[in-house]
Amino acid sequence: MSNILTHSEAGVTTVTLNRLERKNSITAAMYQMLADALTAAAADPATRAVVIQGHETVFSAGNDIGDFLSQPPTGPEAPVFRFLRAIATFPKPLLAAVCGPAVGVGTTMLFHCDLVYAGDNAAFAMPFVNLGLCPEAGSSLLVPGMFGYHRAAEALLLGDPFMAEAALEVGLVNRVVPPSEATSVAQAQARKLAAKPLRSLMETKRLMKQDVQQQVLARIEQESAVFARLLGEPAAKEAFGAFMEKRRPDFSRL
Ligand code: COA
Repeated sequence: MSNILTHSEAGVTTVTLNRLERKNSITAAMYQMLADALTAAAADPATRAVVIQGHETVFSAGNDIGDFLSQPPTGPEAPVFRFLRAIATFPKPLLAAVCGPAVGVGTTMLFHCDLVYAGDNAAFAMPFVNLGLCPEAGSSLLVPGMFGYHRAAEALLLGDPFMAEAALEVGLVNRVVPPSEATSVAQAQARKLAAKPLRSLMETKRLMKQDVQQQVLARIEQESAVFARLLGEPAAKEAFGAFMEKRRPDFSRL
């Protein structure tokens, strides 16, 4: 079965991360499929809202580290950047149902969703510094904007995980529900949106986002350049080597 499943019903397209054995970590091939699914949903007149979901036990462990090392993103047309541009500019209502770990892009993609419903087991983390990297998906701009600077520093400099209730408090999620209900709550909200006039929804979303849209795209590009440079530096090599060897990284000399 595919690692990305799409299903459309009653005006709602649901995109499911389906790679449970690897904690829904995302490969280049999956980024490509996600970008294609969003592009198709944007163009499809029958799609009026999109829900992104994982599994009740895990949303996503972020980039697949092995895949990432074997085919690092190089230019702006790399699948990960295609996905980030597609999600950052997605013109219709975009919802997410998040349960369990949401690491790296598993968290940062949520800043581009309009409504986020979390299971009470959701655990968010943006451990880019711990991997010798820097924020991506515009998160260096969007996290301080949403959390306030000091809480953003906690999330992005320390890379500490935070749970669903904390995410609710800072405004990253709309509602916390039992994990078994997260997808049905997101679906119910998506269907409510799908019953509303699509042009009004799209114009409203465009107006809400227009002041930051260009800034976000420019920041994604800037972050991508820094990220690519850091990926080749010793700290990232140590962090990724440690992950593959299942040991703690040692940054004491770096
Ligand atoms: N890339 C590649 N493989 C991954 C992965 C990732 N991002 N995340 C998990 N996996 C693999 C594990 O290596 C493990 O493989 P194994 O069965 O061959 O040992 C398998 O998926 C199960 O993961 P495990 O760590 O045992 O599950 P867990 O429930 O104990 O923990 C997470 C889940 C998500 C908290 C943990 O896997 C994790 O922290 N992953 C790395 C997250 C990360 O740093 N992502 C990169 C962000 S840029």
